[in-house]
Amino acid sequence: MTSDLKNRIHSGSLILVNPDYGCSDLQNEMVTVHPSFPDIQLEKEAAHMLSLCMESIHGWDGIVPVSGYRPHSEQQKIFDDCLKQDGPEFTSQYVAIPGHSEHETGLAIDLGKKQEKIDFIRPDFPHEGICQVFRDAAAKFGFIERYAEEKQSITHISSEPWHFRYVGIPHAAIITQHHLSLEEYIDLIRSYPYELSQYYSSYSAADHAEYRISSIGADIPLPANRTVRISGDNISRLILTEMIRR
Ligand code: DAL
Ligand code: ZN
Repeated sequence: MTSDLKNRIHSGSLILVNPDYGCSDLQNEMVTVHPSFPDIQLEKEAAHMLSLCMESIHGWDGIVPVSGYRPHSEQQKIFDDCLKQDGPEFTSQYVAIPGHSEHETGLAIDLGKKQEKIDFIRPDFPHEGICQVFRDAAAKFGFIERYAEEKQSITHISSEPWHFRYVGIPHAAIITQHHLSLEEYIDLIRSYPYELSQYYSSYSAADHAEYRISSIGADIPLPANRTVRISGDNISRLILTEMIRR
C-alpha cells in the first residue's frame, strides 16, 4: 500500500480510534479553542464548529474547556500519573492507552462546568443547565457524546459525559438520533459499499440537507463528484459523504 493510501485511511473526521485502532502520526492543523485557554487546542475544523456551537448557546459563560489535543507524550504522562495515583482499574476505565486516545487526533474535547474545582480526568458536566444545553446542541455542530454508559462493552471506556468527539455533519446527528456508538456507526457505513448501496440520510438538524453515505475501498478511484467529502475509517476503507439535496 502506498503511503498516500495509508494516509487517507487513517485521517479525516470519522476515523475510529479505540483499543483496536490506534492513531497514526496525523498532520492535523491544531488551533486554540478559546483565547482565554491558549493551551487547549483542537483540529481546525473541530475548533471552528465548537466555537459556532458555543456562540449559539453562549456556552463559554458557564463551560470551560478542560482538555483538547494531547500530543502522544502528554497522553503517556496522564496515563502513567493516573496509574500511579489511582491504579490500573480506574485508569483503564477513564484514560485511553497512549497511541489509542481520540485526544491525540485533536478531534476530542473534554468540557467542564465552570466552577472553582475542576477534576482533570473526570470533569463535572451535568445533565442540566448550560452543560445540557451544549449536549442537546452538539450534534447540530458535528459533535457526539462518545462514551455512553450503555455502550461500555463496545467502547471499553466507562461513561464519560464530558468527552465530546467531532465527527462532522451529518454523522453526529445520525449517531445521536439512533443512539449508536461510533464503533456501531462505522460498522454500519462499512456495510454500504459505494458500488452497491448507500445509506440515505434525510436527517440533519444542522442544515436540513439530505445526504448519501457509503464506504469505498481505499484503492478504488474516487467518484468524480466535487460535493463528496471523504474521511478514512482508520480500519481499511474510506467513507464518502455526498450532499444530495438542500
Ligand atoms: N478519557 C479518554 C478515554 C482518553 O483518555 O482518550
Ligand atoms: Zn476526553
